[in-house]
Amino acid sequence: MAPAVPLALLAMGLGLGLALPSCDYPTHLWCSSREIAVACQAESLCANLSRPTAAPVQLSLYYESLCPACQGFLVQQLFTTWVLLPTDVLNITLVPYVRTASCAHTACLMHEAENFTTYFPVIFCMESGSSATKNLKACLQVYAPQLDAGRITACVKGELGAALMHRNAQLTEALDPPHQYVPWVVINGKHTDELQKKAQDSLLRLVCQLYQGDKPKACKDTESPKAAAVCRR
Ligand SMILES: *[C@@H]1O[C@H](CO)[C@@H](O)[C@H](O)[C@H]1NC(C)=O
Ligand SMILES: *[C@@H]1O[C@H](CO)[C@@H](O)[C@H](O)[C@H]1NC(C)=O
Ligand SMILES: *[C@@H]1O[C@H](CO)[C@@H](O)[C@H](O)[C@H]1NC(C)=O
Repeated sequence: MAPAVPLALLAMGLGLGLALPSCDYPTHLWCSSREIAVACQAESLCANLSRPTAAPVQLSLYYESLCPACQGFLVQQLFTTWVLLPTDVLNITLVPYVRTASCAHTACLMHEAENFTTYFPVIFCMESGSSATKNLKACLQVYAPQLDAGRITACVKGELGAALMHRNAQLTEALDPPHQYVPWVVINGKHTDELQKKAQDSLLRLVCQLYQGDKPKACKDTESPKAAAVCRR
């Protein structure tokens, strides 16, 4: 839109006595805030005003610790997507469940760490190895040395661990449709075969497609198919 148009519209509006939000600002201030841009009908001219923030894409992962397909998804898709995207684009909920010690370790770690940002790298590390239980100590040392490994072990062996597992069992059993396999991905409250397939093929691309806000930089790379990676002599 040319700058003259909003001015003309405004003059018309004033002339007709319409109750437009008033634009008592000189043109050089039109882009200084979203409210002023709206009042002056100059939004399309103000490319530097960011759009109102969109809701994050909600992803819940129901999985079993150390099931190879779950490890693959968590390590190769979920973690990398999380690292690449700004924090307000993707909101991840992990629901580890199966009656084994390794799942209790994950649930207790999540409980102790509280923050996703604190526990997710530790879980990534645990799931990158072959024994989540054995890995816990080493992974904590590297990724969250501030956490107390003793408290997590006590949780696993005590009532708290059992209660956390019980809650995750309930969450898993309440899934609609019921889960048929793991990893089971729920996106924005929905599970379909198509969403699951897209998530497992390229979670980054799927989240970029679903996110309604300004596309973050990492999304630009997913838009055009990449040339095959090769090494030449
Ligand atoms: C946007 O850019 C204009 C100049 O083009 C500037 O006057 C204005 O202050 C900027 N707004 C913000 C919010 O940075
Ligand atoms: C992220 O998901 C949790 C549920 O797992 C929810 O309580 C929280 O409000 C969500 N946060 C945002 C910013 O959407
Ligand atoms: C949770 O994250 C905040 C910063 O986002 C940090 O200050 C706090 O220590 C973290 N809590 C734990 C238990 O790590």
